[in-house]
Amino acid sequence: MILNNNFDRILIIDFGSQFTQLIARRIRELGVYSEIISHKKLSSKFDKKKIKGIILSGGPLNVYQSRKVKFNKDILECNLPILGICFGHQVISKELGGKVKKAKQREFGLAKLKRLGKSKLTNNFFDKNGSNRVWMSHADEVTKLAKGFKVIAKTETSQFSIVENFSKKIYGIQFHPEVTHTEKGGIILKNFIFSICNIKRNWSSKNQKELIIKEIKKNVEKSKVICALSGGVDSSVVAKLIHNAIGKQLTCIFVNTGLLRKNEEIQVVKTFKNKFKINLIYVDAKRLFFNKLKNISDPEKKRKIIGNLFIKIFEKYAKKIKNVKFLAQGTLYPDLIESKSVTGSQTSKIKSHHNVGGLPKKMKLKLIEPLRLLFKDEVRKLGLELKLSKEIVLRHPFPGPGLAIRIPGKITENKIKILKHADDIFTKSLVEHNLYNKIWQAYAALLPVKTVGVMGDNRTYEYICLLRAITSEDGMTADFFSFSKEFMQLVSNKIINNIKGINRVVYDVTSKPPSTIELE
Ligand code: XMP
Repeated sequence: MILNNNFDRILIIDFGSQFTQLIARRIRELGVYSEIISHKKLSSKFDKKKIKGIILSGGPLNVYQSRKVKFNKDILECNLPILGICFGHQVISKELGGKVKKAKQREFGLAKLKRLGKSKLTNNFFDKNGSNRVWMSHADEVTKLAKGFKVIAKTETSQFSIVENFSKKIYGIQFHPEVTHTEKGGIILKNFIFSICNIKRNWSSKNQKELIIKEIKKNVEKSKVICALSGGVDSSVVAKLIHNAIGKQLTCIFVNTGLLRKNEEIQVVKTFKNKFKINLIYVDAKRLFFNKLKNISDPEKKRKIIGNLFIKIFEKYAKKIKNVKFLAQGTLYPDLIESKSVTGSQTSKIKSHHNVGGLPKKMKLKLIEPLRLLFKDEVRKLGLELKLSKEIVLRHPFPGPGLAIRIPGKITENKIKILKHADDIFTKSLVEHNLYNKIWQAYAALLPVKTVGVMGDNRTYEYICLLRAITSEDGMTADFFSFSKEFMQLVSNKIINNIKGINRVVYDVTSKPPSTIELE
């Protein structure tokens, strides 16, 4: 699936590396459009017209696992510059007559690279002693070069760390230039795309804004569009883009589930209805959600109930708007990238995600997905370009089922009230201490366990508040954030002194995996 035909691009063939998306983002950060396709989906007859260079990603496989590694060798004969990274390097070597073997020693982490030859790929990359620190992660290695290739650099354990076939413009590197641990890794990618592929800069949030608005106008013409607005970054950017394109032909529907962050509903109405004058239907569905969730403690049941109810409410109000032809959704590029798992095994379902996306099939509306080519950080830049406030654009992600999955066990109005307050204190403290934007996502949760405490001279018997704050690139993996003792103390005191119902605060120090970001 090639998503967009208008841009010159770098095509990234994905062999299942956890870093594939990062390669695409790095190239876009350099101002060039890049697109990912699974190695399993690319036929030799792919349309080369707009492709100026190809990158073969890393991956968890072994090049001799012929049943799993589907790679059409013709791609190496397509006369386009090619850069193989890690596994991609091994694929190129094997396919062109070299050899790949299990390395004596698995190389993982930083390695010192030593220059042996000159190449356009490594201009300005090495220090004055001809070395550089790079990040490796591999068990196999190239042991014999393919014909026509020469060595540009090696490490102590990997003799063919950078190789090139100058006349065919094919390059292979064993390390990962896309990760920040590789010093000046960006220079390798920059040299490849600008000096070797000769592609011109064509990608910025400003030209994105203009192009997307033009495309919406062309597709929608005089029709009506509806959009589920949640107050999160993606749906806010979608609403603003579409409103800029077609004004009053857009109606947004905002469902207050009662499970939102403190004052979120007030902010949404203030921003979108009052400030931007967007047609907004505000649905107060708090009662409905509380009633349906009464006595439900199973996490999956909660998610299903909330998801289904949301669809029902959305459909009911959407039907009231006559002659709607389009439904706008905030689908992002990572949601669309095909086949993440190249090993063929089905990943097991951890949680059923409830998204505004995927709604509502019954209404037979056409979809508009204006963010379908963008990564989250690009959506944020676009949001700022659209003059959305920093508070909206830089806001931490918030799950569709909201606070319901941050209260394990049964949900009551009182628990929600307590949690909203605790979460608000935590978030405000992060902002006040300039920590909010250093953290990918932070929230408070309410654990339905009561413990004994003492306040003044009195015994208390109240709930536990759990704080979670993580750093992450994309939410797929995460690490907990390290706060100072002073900050933790301050937040803990504020929560306990201000909220009746909590007498203990704990901090979650697990990464993902093995935990997930949300509790349910
Ligand atoms: P987990 O808990 O799966 O969360 O590690 C990963 C990221 O996804 C968010 N999340 C959701 N987002 N609908 C959403 O739109 C959902 O149902 C949902 N569940 C989790 C979570 O907040 C984190 O950012």
